[in-house]
Amino acid sequence: MIGAAIVDHTPSEKAIAVRVLSVPFSWSGRRVFRRATVSFRIAARPRGDVLLLPACAMNDALIAAALAAFPTDVPGITLGAVTHDGEIDPRPLVRLPLAMMTRHGLIAGATGTGKTKTLQLMAEQLSAHGVPVFLADVKGDVGGIAMAGETNVKVDERAKATGYDWRASSYPVELLSLTGATGGQLRATVASFGPLLMAKVLDLNDTQSSVLSLVFKCCDDKKLLLLDLSDLREVLQYLSDDGAAELKEYGGMSKATVGVLLRNIIGLEAQGADKFFGEPEFDLDDLLSVERDGRGLISVLELSDVQDKPRLFSTFMLWMLAQLYGSLPEVGDLAKPKLVFFFDEAHLLFDEASSAMRDEIEKVTRLIRSKGVGVFYITQHPRDIPDTVLGQLGNRVQHALRAYTPDDEKQLRTTARTIPKTDFYDIEATLTALATGQALVSTLTVKGTPTLPFACHMVPPSSRMGPLTEAEVAQKLITPQAKKYATAVDRESAREMLEKKHADASVAEAAAAEAEPTKAAGGKSAREEESALGAFLRSPVARTIAVTVAGTLTRTLLGTLMGKRRR
Ligand SMILES: Nc1ncnc2c1ncn2[C@@H]1O[C@H](COP(=O)(O)OP(=O)(O)OP(=O)(O)O)[C@@H](O)[C@H]1O
Ligand SMILES: [Mg+2]
Repeated sequence: MIGAAIVDHTPSEKAIAVRVLSVPFSWSGRRVFRRATVSFRIAARPRGDVLLLPACAMNDALIAAALAAFPTDVPGITLGAVTHDGEIDPRPLVRLPLAMMTRHGLIAGATGTGKTKTLQLMAEQLSAHGVPVFLADVKGDVGGIAMAGETNVKVDERAKATGYDWRASSYPVELLSLTGATGGQLRATVASFGPLLMAKVLDLNDTQSSVLSLVFKCCDDKKLLLLDLSDLREVLQYLSDDGAAELKEYGGMSKATVGVLLRNIIGLEAQGADKFFGEPEFDLDDLLSVERDGRGLISVLELSDVQDKPRLFSTFMLWMLAQLYGSLPEVGDLAKPKLVFFFDEAHLLFDEASSAMRDEIEKVTRLIRSKGVGVFYITQHPRDIPDTVLGQLGNRVQHALRAYTPDDEKQLRTTARTIPKTDFYDIEATLTALATGQALVSTLTVKGTPTLPFACHMVPPSSRMGPLTEAEVAQKLITPQAKKYATAVDRESAREMLEKKHADASVAEAAAAEAEPTKAAGGKSAREEESALGAFLRSPVARTIAVTVAGTLTRTLLGTLMGKRRR
């Protein structure tokens, strides 16, 4: 009967009261029914009678606290409305100040609880405020942000419940991908990827990683340009063969380990990775675009076609972040971020990451704030993120957690401890009771202090909640940006230099054979005494190659290009 009262949109207060009285005696609990102008809370009592109360009786102190925590005159994005004890206050109060988005954040929660939709609605509103966004679409369900959403009963209900002025809208989107099939080709040179990230992609152990660092150092010293995997392969081949003597300068680099690296590179190439190493390298300035209409570009890295290579794509995202960190100027605190970077499936970054890698992620996260970039990590559980990084994530959106197993319960308690204390909610109980599309939210105020946590019924995204069709993706592959990166360029680099060296060495050998009789009297020629590689490097060909990245490769573990300034 009560359901009928809601569905029928019973027009008068009296009618609702009549229907309420016909509630079965066994029924208990509370419900909120809203009319356009009147809201009721119905409380069933054990004896079977019911009370009809105005819904605004939701803890007034709680609403006052939320109003104070999320002032509406501060530019920010709207997350949703306060919910408590099954009731939803019909005002979209819970907000995140734009100026605080560079203090980073965490979106966590069990599978299917609404993390991706939260990311989507945040990205939309950032774009609307003129802030460019980068996000990774691991499951292929965020691309729809490029298309206007469609209203349906659920969206309608959510908009009404949160008092949100929902309007369908599409957003400016560029698709990127590692294969070039589902977006513009994202490419990096081996040099800028750097030894640490390359070691992660190649799944190297500590010893092998340090050898790879030395190989990079060697190329740096010898001014051998590492652009694509074939360059790295050629260098390794050389060092494990003719150039073995060169290794001696770099103590600790064993020929056997170089052989392992070589095999791993060949394995990586066999997986098709040669596509995403090389030139033209993706220009990070492309992420910072603002459209003519003032909306920020949303760059969506489509990863559904490389889902089975998490190590590769998470490392690529880290490369992007490292590049931004290395190239953007210091700007201090801005009124709104220059870019917000969403790291979905963030646990993949830290899985099996070396301590050096973790330190670098911690450092980049800490320092990139002053460059105007906000970073949001999205993962199922806060424990997926090391404490040193977690401690820097000021804005928290914690979706529901499950407590099915003793381990779950332990994790629940740990998570609850990371959330500010409040008298309004029992944190542990709330975390397990949150419905889909609800979260416990604590953001930073403009003063930089965390708000109390409020359970929040999130507003619906205004773009499509679902994937792009094949035809829509095809349209995105012919944008000027996608075309810019469509064709790989293979300019002269380490491979060509070493191949030429081989050719030169053959000529030299032939010449030496001819000169043998005279040499016999005079001992070794100067040319033979110097290494073949050294001789080559003094050749005019080598000198004419501009080694823009050499000298910087090993200065930071992530191989970031320091000193290059962007806008
Ligand atoms: N803010 C929201 N507005 C409307 N619907 C929502 C919202 N949040 C969640 N939902 C609903 O919940 C479903 C699951 O949400 P979502 O895909 O964001 O979960 P998830 O936590 O990212 O899951 P997974 O861990 O599997 O990636 C959505 O398909 C949608 O129907
Ligand atoms: Mg998701």
